[in-house]
Amino acid sequence: MLSFSKIPNHIGIIMDGNGRWATKRGLPRNFGHKEGVKAIERTILACQKFGIKYCTFFAFSTENWKRSKEEINGIFNLLRDYLAGGDNFFVKNKVKLKYIGVLSPFPQDLQDALKDTIDKTKDFDGLVVVLALNYGGRDDLVRAYNKLLKDKVEKVDEKMILNYLDTSFMPEPDFVIRTSGEERISNFMLYQMAYSELYFPKVYWPDFNEKHLKKCLKIYQKRNRRYGGIK
Ligand code: FPP
Repeated sequence: MLSFSKIPNHIGIIMDGNGRWATKRGLPRNFGHKEGVKAIERTILACQKFGIKYCTFFAFSTENWKRSKEEINGIFNLLRDYLAGGDNFFVKNKVKLKYIGVLSPFPQDLQDALKDTIDKTKDFDGLVVVLALNYGGRDDLVRAYNKLLKDKVEKVDEKMILNYLDTSFMPEPDFVIRTSGEERISNFMLYQMAYSELYFPKVYWPDFNEKHLKKCLKIYQKRNRRYGGIK
């Protein structure tokens, strides 16, 4: 049974396996990303149902620029189509949208569509969905240190670093899930994940659904979080 009293505040999701899902079916890789968007929708609705407050999806990493132009453009097109139009999924489902990462290398119209949805959803007070876009944990730290230098702080402490990271508006992730059976962090929220519980289900991201999320949450609820102490 899922206990509603021990739901993680913030979950992070490394959506892996889109390419393999498509290749297994003899389809181009971008078909996997397209199906992956449906899995994002299912997961968002399930997060709302289970009372999760923040869900961060790793949608495009600082390393993903190494992929083919075709694949990168395919991901941009998906995002663009998804966010375009006044009445998109986030607006309809009262989901507050935010992002972490650096948007400037993305096409201007994509940046505009994203900012427009962020603006339209900013007053919703339920689930916050965060898209990690051109995001890297190391890059986040480097940008934070440079901002600290610019602000001429004399001494840094752990809390200060947290406050200078892109994620400063939300709690650290309690639980990070990576699908497809790969067991790596791949430069996700490195500093913020110091005490996150991790889980690596075998399912490819395009197949992920509410049942999978429920199973992940049950596993989280069995964990004994000690933060280095003894319980
Ligand atoms: C990882 O699978 C997936 C990605 C790098 C891209 C994920 C992006 C989306 C699902 C699109 C986001 C769109 C919206 C609307 C938020 P992989 O390609 O690395 O899979 P593989 O390891 O099997 O090759």
